[in-house]
Amino acid sequence: MTKPNIYVGLMSGTSMDSIDAVAIDFQNSHIQMIGSHSHPIPNTLKQDILALCQPGVDNIDLYGRTDRALGHLFSDATLALLEKTNINTKQVIAIGSHGQTIRHQPPEKSHGFTLQIGDPNIIAIKTKCAVVADFRRADMALGGQGAPLVPAFHHHYFADPRKHRIILNIGGIANITVLKNNTCSGFDTGPGNLLLDSWCLKNTGQPFDDKGAWADTGNLSRALVDQLKLHPFFELEPPKSTGREVFNASWLEQQLTGHTLPAEDIQASLIAFSVETISEAIARIGEPVDDILVCGGGAFNTALITALEKNVAPYGQPNVSSTSALRVDPEWVEACAFAWLAKQRIELKTANIPSVTGASRATVLGALYHF
Ligand SMILES: Nc1ncnc2c1ncn2[C@@H]1O[C@H](COP(=O)(O)OP(=O)(O)OP(=O)(O)O)[C@@H](O)[C@H]1O
Ligand SMILES: [Mg+2]
Repeated sequence: MTKPNIYVGLMSGTSMDSIDAVAIDFQNSHIQMIGSHSHPIPNTLKQDILALCQPGVDNIDLYGRTDRALGHLFSDATLALLEKTNINTKQVIAIGSHGQTIRHQPPEKSHGFTLQIGDPNIIAIKTKCAVVADFRRADMALGGQGAPLVPAFHHHYFADPRKHRIILNIGGIANITVLKNNTCSGFDTGPGNLLLDSWCLKNTGQPFDDKGAWADTGNLSRALVDQLKLHPFFELEPPKSTGREVFNASWLEQQLTGHTLPAEDIQASLIAFSVETISEAIARIGEPVDDILVCGGGAFNTALITALEKNVAPYGQPNVSSTSALRVDPEWVEACAFAWLAKQRIELKTANIPSVTGASRATVLGALYHF
């Protein structure tokens, strides 16, 4: 039997729904998930993160405290995962910790920078495992967007040379990876669940609209959807990436000025906004697509997936399913990607795709922290 090759992936995305933790054995060409764990983020910490995400007057004290608090929380998430899966820390080669993004400013503005927090020193010391973190800044130092980074992982595990395939990750922000003839491209398409979650919380008190059932009770406003789609991000050519700084609750409030619509109609319109911007990004590829494999929490929003199926039908009638079809649960794909990115770093292999991020060359990503 080959020796296990175990890595842990930790992901806490723009939605801030929870910390996703996975343990993966990479000993063969398939991903063998040993176990997964979803770790809650306390509400007070969420509020602190949201405050840090808000451009304006920045608070370095709050930054420092939150960086530490997240370091402890990522450690707790890892320890809970290891206990659940009966893995001894000595068996783990490294933890790949994405960190919590509090600011992402792509380089098309005057200066690009990106900031993920959750002190990796604390994670290494508390878990007694090596940690790889700070995955995005080497790509940015080479002029890239530092995002998206998951396409390399999608290419490695999900490509099929006979198929023109799209991996669509619908997290807070949505991004696509286009896999064709052994080539790989990809970019952020715009909002995924982020505006849906924020409007749902404000109007129903629920953190997300389960299966899109509430949105289903409303009717979309064509005028509102068309207005939202006028945002200049959708006209940018890839490479491109975006985040909470651009698409957030206050941007939505501004957009709603002058519209008198029932709250559920706005939710229905936000679904159409995400779906149409995703579909139009797919249309721009200009060639029929065989299949679209969805991952991220948006895969569980039935109303959104139903609308997506209708909207992409003109582009080759692609088969829309989830990454479960390739034996990876859509909920855990991003966390798996960061376990794999940690493996790439430990093996000193490059992991960014310059045609995706815009970096001047491929490079090894991430910094290594020992305990
Ligand atoms: N049953 C469900 N019905 C509707 N939406 C769901 C359901 N389950 C999850 N979601 C949505 O998925 C979101 C979480 O998705 P995910 O964890 O992939 O995003 P993320 O944390 O922003 O990740 P990333 O930024 O890495 O893509 C939730 O906030 C919610 O909007
Ligand atoms: Mg998440």
